Amino acid sequence: MAQIVGALTSSHVPAIGRAIAKNLQQDPYWKPFFDGWAPVHRWLAERRPDVAVIFYNDHGLNFFLDKLPTFAVGAAPQYRNEDEGWGIPQVPVFEGDLDLSWHLIESLVADEFDITSCQEMVVDHAITNPLQLMYPDQAWGVRIVPVCINTVQFPLPTARRCYALGEAVGRAIRSWDSDARVVVLGTGGLSHQLDGQRAGFINKDFDLAFLESLEHDPRWATQYSIHELVEKAGTQGVELLMWLAARAALGDGVKTMHRNYHIPISNTASGLMLLEPAA
Ligand code: DHB
Ligand code: FE
Repeated sequence: MAQIVGALTSSHVPAIGRAIAKNLQQDPYWKPFFDGWAPVHRWLAERRPDVAVIFYNDHGLNFFLDKLPTFAVGAAPQYRNEDEGWGIPQVPVFEGDLDLSWHLIESLVADEFDITSCQEMVVDHAITNPLQLMYPDQAWGVRIVPVCINTVQFPLPTARRCYALGEAVGRAIRSWDSDARVVVLGTGGLSHQLDGQRAGFINKDFDLAFLESLEHDPRWATQYSIHELVEKAGTQGVELLMWLAARAALGDGVKTMHRNYHIPISNTASGLMLLEPAA
């Protein structure tokens, strides 16, 4: 059976793609952010995952307000990055893993999650950022299976539901008849708000409490409603639902291998966490 080797959760910001394109990794603004990824590179070289299941939120590239599934799973042979309007170069195509995609879809539907299956899917900075940060030479070391959670159009799924989705995805991966090594990614958050009167809002105390909870009390954030999460983390801070789902996929006990927190990157409190299942 397939093995989950770890969960890697990180923020995403279009400006990261621009900084990579302009080689700004050593620039004083960017260095504390990019330096946070060095331990992840060592971990990837050691653990060598074959596939990444990626909890992410699309920002209007693949889905728009006219048709917006709450949960969607990619089942495409390949995933292309397209222009989102930020003026950032596109990255090479990502290879999918059809066998895992359909296993996940069948397993989730049997588990009573009414997901949308997508045999075509274009992917935005929520997917390109973490993969570029993991593989700076853009020779992607993993095939991918995107799992999209709506954080764009209200009503959003509750934190409790996203946690349950993550648990179901974890069960599905562990029951996949394959010897693949799987890493689970969660991309989004932490606190940020891009619009309205609170534009620029960041909540360090909440972010640090959330990071802490993922190791010792992973259901902590599920006590909050979506509106409470918006209040505490900002309108776009609700993207932390991706971290929650990725954490849930690991199961009960975890150990923290690495974490980094840096404020701000653009308007975002950027966080990075690497977890392994406890032995
Ligand atoms: C920013 C953050 C995001 O999560 C996003 O999707 C777009 C922009 C930002 O801070 O600029
Ligand atoms: Fe975002």
